[in-house]
Amino acid sequence: MRTHTKKTGKEELIIIPVQEGYEKKKFSKKTLEHFEKKGFTGKKLTHTIIQDKPQKLFIGTGKEIDSDTIRKIAGKAAKIAREEHVKNIAIDLRGLEVTYTQAAIEGVRLGLYTYEDYKKRDKDAAKDPTELSILCDDEKTAGHYTKKANVLAESVWLVRDLVNKPASDKYPKMMAETAKELGKKYGFDVKIMGRKELEKLGFAAMLGVARGSDKEAQLAILELNPKNTEKPVVLAGKGVTFDAGGLQIKPGNYMLEMKMDMGGAATVLGTMVALCRLGHNKRVIGMLGLVENMLGDDAYKPGDILTAYNGKTIEVRHTDAEGRLVLADVMSYAEKNYEPACIIDLATLTGATIIALGYRIAAVVGRDRGLIEGLKKTSEETQELIWELPLYEHHKKMMQGSISDLSNIHHPPSSMGGPGTITAAAFLSEFVTEKTPWMHLDIAGTAYSYEETEYVSKGGTGWGVRLLTQYLMKE
Ligand code: BES
Ligand code: ZN
Ligand code: ZN
Repeated sequence: MRTHTKKTGKEELIIIPVQEGYEKKKFSKKTLEHFEKKGFTGKKLTHTIIQDKPQKLFIGTGKEIDSDTIRKIAGKAAKIAREEHVKNIAIDLRGLEVTYTQAAIEGVRLGLYTYEDYKKRDKDAAKDPTELSILCDDEKTAGHYTKKANVLAESVWLVRDLVNKPASDKYPKMMAETAKELGKKYGFDVKIMGRKELEKLGFAAMLGVARGSDKEAQLAILELNPKNTEKPVVLAGKGVTFDAGGLQIKPGNYMLEMKMDMGGAATVLGTMVALCRLGHNKRVIGMLGLVENMLGDDAYKPGDILTAYNGKTIEVRHTDAEGRLVLADVMSYAEKNYEPACIIDLATLTGATIIALGYRIAAVVGRDRGLIEGLKKTSEETQELIWELPLYEHHKKMMQGSISDLSNIHHPPSSMGGPGTITAAAFLSEFVTEKTPWMHLDIAGTAYSYEETEYVSKGGTGWGVRLLTQYLMKE
């Protein structure tokens, strides 16, 4: 899609946000009569079309306008334009804050996303609008927001595509190679390590998980601005390209969507791409821990004890609690070798997150107030919602082992499930020492959507790319 910050004269449909309680003098007599006839008052996300040349699509913002309302309006309007087979659209933001340009373009582009790689014909994409003009009062500033929005939306698309890809075509090497290609294309370094190197380094926890699969484990290390001398920010992502549960195989339908279990790694990759394309000038390292959790002959067994990169021993008391084993090695390696300014990890780590917070809020757990409060602020802007869960010493005690240092699931066992998200985070906290600020995002619920909304599609959501990119660019 091509975006413009002024009228091209070719627009076939103009999207006009209308605030509930609007001033009548803003509209022509004919328009007001139309509103009256249709009972259109500007109520949030209601709409009406005047068939003119160009067509006018009025869409309600409700009483308060904010950037997420604009994002939603734009997403909804773009879908209407697609249904109407309109190629050339505009959004009229005159009289509104120029910053809304970003939300408007994000909304349109994210709203139009569909995953059609495995369909015979590109049916929907062929009907998509291809030109978008932003009508605004400050073209120059709008241009800046246009670039930002396009990069963010394309990075979200990238993550959605990766998450939606079936595991038949998506495995650790494929993910690592994708990272390598993107690094070449946009200009960040990518180093890939396979089983042999990881064995030498001591990644026994991550390799333990990988043993049940014939797909080789991979660690991809992405680096932006490697020549900078400051301490880097490290982003670490769980990249389980399929989680069958291991020998303790996932029951019933629980396995169905487990191609999405690499959502954390994909989000790290998407964020690196966005930061790079937006010219972020600080050093950032992205780590993708890539494995498949299967049940092959050599699969790790309940009761096995694995020694992680930092020397701590872990009893595998559940083969389905594999993500934390991957991150244990990845994060302790990152801390030891890069002395990071901070570590932020992202993982589809626990089903308990969904029970606690549902599908639209991610859990954040950590021990650094600054990091968490900063992220909360940005989260209000991007509307990728987060909710903090606590982490106490007693949670860490629940993860102690009996004949090993740690267990990968909490005790005492509870028929109610217990604090699964917090104890998983407590486990991770054993692999980042107190000296490094760290926070963990459990995106088990938010990485994958079962419903379509204005700008979130079914399947992979790309949740977190806008949040992390904007957060890091502010710091
Ligand atoms: N990948 C799953 C968590 C998950 C569940 C992500 C649903 C997305 C949707 C993870 O590896 C897992 O299986 N966790 C177990 C942990 C348990 C065995 C302690 C869980 O949450 O049930
Ligand atoms: Zn699992
Ligand atoms: Zn998993």
